[in-house]
Amino acid sequence: MYVPQRVVPNDTFVTMGLDTSDEWISSRTGIKRRRVVEADEATSDMATKAAMQAMAVAGLHSGDIDLIVVATCTPDHVMPATASIVQDRLGMLNAGAMDLNAACSGFVYALATGAAQVESGRAKNVLVIGADELSIYLNWQDRSTCVLFGDGAGAVVLRQAKEPGIMGSTMGSDGSGAGLLTIKGASRVRASRNGSMNGHEKDTNGVAAAADENYLTMNGPQIFRWATQIMPRAAEQVMASSGLTTEDISLFIPHQANERIMKATAKRLGLPPEKVFSNVREYGNTSAASIPIALCEALETERVKVGDYVVLSSFGAGLSWAALALRWSVPIPSHVAPWQPIQRQVASRMAAVRSVLRRGERSVRTRIDRTLGKDES
Ligand code: ACO
Repeated sequence: MYVPQRVVPNDTFVTMGLDTSDEWISSRTGIKRRRVVEADEATSDMATKAAMQAMAVAGLHSGDIDLIVVATCTPDHVMPATASIVQDRLGMLNAGAMDLNAACSGFVYALATGAAQVESGRAKNVLVIGADELSIYLNWQDRSTCVLFGDGAGAVVLRQAKEPGIMGSTMGSDGSGAGLLTIKGASRVRASRNGSMNGHEKDTNGVAAAADENYLTMNGPQIFRWATQIMPRAAEQVMASSGLTTEDISLFIPHQANERIMKATAKRLGLPPEKVFSNVREYGNTSAASIPIALCEALETERVKVGDYVVLSSFGAGLSWAALALRWSVPIPSHVAPWQPIQRQVASRMAAVRSVLRRGERSVRTRIDRTLGKDES
C-alpha cells in the first residue's frame, strides 16, 4: 500500500473557515484524518509505489506479470490508461494493461476480473491495483463532501495455485442511481453539449465546464441508506455461493466510507466488531484504494493469517457494488531483505532508461521512414 505523506486532520477544515467541527466529522463518519496528494503527485505515482511493494512481497520480477488492472475513477488522463503508465514505470514488458472504473467498488471488480484470467489459465500472474485521488475533484468549500475523502493506493498480485484462494465473487450495478454521486467534468455528455462533434461550431477544449461539474457531487443521505442495504446483501450472496457462513469468516473488510455504514452492515450480517476491519479513522474514504489498503493493514497487524476466510464488500458511484470471498493462502514475509529496496530502485531506474530508449527508437524510426518516404499505413 501507499498513502501520501501529507496528513490532513479534521481541524484543518475549521481553520479553512468551513462551518464544521472535528466532533461532527468524527461522530457522523468515524474519520479523524486523511492523506492528500501534493500538486505533482498523480494516481499513477501512488499506484506504482503500491505495486512495487506488492511485487516485493510476492517475490516476482517485472517480466512475470501478464496483466495489470488499475481500478481507478481518477486516472491521470482520459487516455492513455493509468495502467499503461504503471506498466512502463515498472518495466513489465510482458503485461497487458487496462483501467477499470467502478468507483469505490473498482478494486473488488478488478480482483474478480483478474481472478477469472488466472482461473481460466489465460494469465499466470495478475497485478491488481486500486488507486484514487478524489481530493483533486473535491470542492473544498462544500462541507458535506470534502471532509469524507482521502487519497491512496493498494495492490495485490494474483498467482496460479493448486488450492483456490478466491472462492466466489459478485458484481452489481444500478445505473438509475448514477446521478447520486458524480464528477461530470471532462465527460462525453459535456463534450457533446459543448458541441465539438455534433454542434460543429465550438471547440470543446476552449469551453470550461460549469464550476460545479468539475467537482464531486453527492446525495449523501440516499447513498447512506442504499449502502447499508447493498453491502450486507452482496456479502451474504458471496458467502452463500462460496459455501461459507458468518461463523467461518475470520475478517470482514467493508469499503471504508463511513464507520456508521460499516457498523450497520456488520449488524445486519450478525458479525461481532472484532471481525470487522476499520481504518477509516486514519484515511477517510480512499475510493478504489480503501479495500486493498485495509487488507494490507489487516495482514500487517496479523488480523488475517494463512487459512483464514475473508469477505470483502464494497459500494460506490454507478451505483455499483461488489463482494468477494477469499481464503488467504500465502504467508506474508515478516521482513523485507535488506537488498530488496536497492533491487527495486535499480529495476525502476532500468525501466526508466528502457522507456527513454524506446521513445528515442520510435522517434528515430519515424524520421528514417519519413526520409525514405515510407508510409507505415
Ligand atoms: N459539518 C457539519 N455539518 C454538516 C457537515 C459537516 N461536514 N456535512 C453536512 N452537515 C450538515 C448538513 O448540512 C445538514 O444540515 P441541515 O440539517 O441544516 O441541512 C446536517 O449536517 C445533516 O446532514 P445529513 O446529510 O443528513 O447528515 P448525515 O448524518 O446523513 O451524514 C454523510 C452525512 C456523512 C455524508 C452521510 O450521509 C454519508 O456518509 N453518506 C454516504 C456517503 C458515501 O459513503 N459516499 C461514498 C460512496 S463511495 C464512492 O463511489 C466514492
